[in-house]
Amino acid sequence: MQKKKPAESQVTMTELVLPNDTNVFGNLMGGRLMYWMDIAAALAAGKHCNAPVVTASVDNISFESPIKLGNVVHIEARVTRAFTTSMEIHLSVWGEDLTHQYRYKSNEAYYTFVALDPNRKPRPVPVLEPETEQEKKLYDGALRRRQLRLILGGKMKAADATELKALFSEA
Ligand SMILES: CC(C)(COP(=O)(O)OP(=O)(O)OC[C@H]1O[C@@H](n2cnc3c(N)ncnc32)[C@H](O)[C@@H]1OP(=O)(O)O)[C@@H](O)C(=O)NCCC(=O)NCCS
Repeated sequence: MQKKKPAESQVTMTELVLPNDTNVFGNLMGGRLMYWMDIAAALAAGKHCNAPVVTASVDNISFESPIKLGNVVHIEARVTRAFTTSMEIHLSVWGEDLTHQYRYKSNEAYYTFVALDPNRKPRPVPVLEPETEQEKKLYDGALRRRQLRLILGGKMKAADATELKALFSEA
């Protein structure tokens, strides 16, 4: 199967925060942002594997800075590592105040997507080959994050999480 680079699956989504997207404080609702993030991540995963994908899991998300009504939301998504049928996607979210011309970081997250075949069974995805130092760092950390999310999701025994064990034995 053809190998892919992270840049090939990069997606940048831009949205404008309108009144119907906000809570009573005039901030973008977390659920709306997670919906947009899910779409950006699905597009990145789909670009990597050229197949239909489903969201398998979402890691914890902390909303660091609220995004205000009338501000612009920028969501950057790219595949950090491909496993057998699943892909980890890193998302970073920025708000932009067009009037005062500044950008601010809102949050980051990791989503996991699985590629499906026509029978809706998981199917293999292309290997990801990181290029830049940042991409290599994200790639290396992906195995550790995968083991943690599979343990939390009840899909892996803690005793089998070799990467996590190595991390704690180093400390
Ligand atoms: C995700 C899904 C396809 C996995 O199917 P499954 O029968 O559990 O398949 P497997 O156990 O063979 O796992 C397939 C891959 O999913 C990964 N996976 C399964 N559960 C996961 C989880 N909670 N978090 C991260 N990855 C997960 C496995 O690690 C495996 O990846 P790999 O092949 O790269 O090693 C299935 O659970 C599903 O369809 N879920 C609903 C998806 C959906 O509808 N999402 C929208 C939100 S409702």
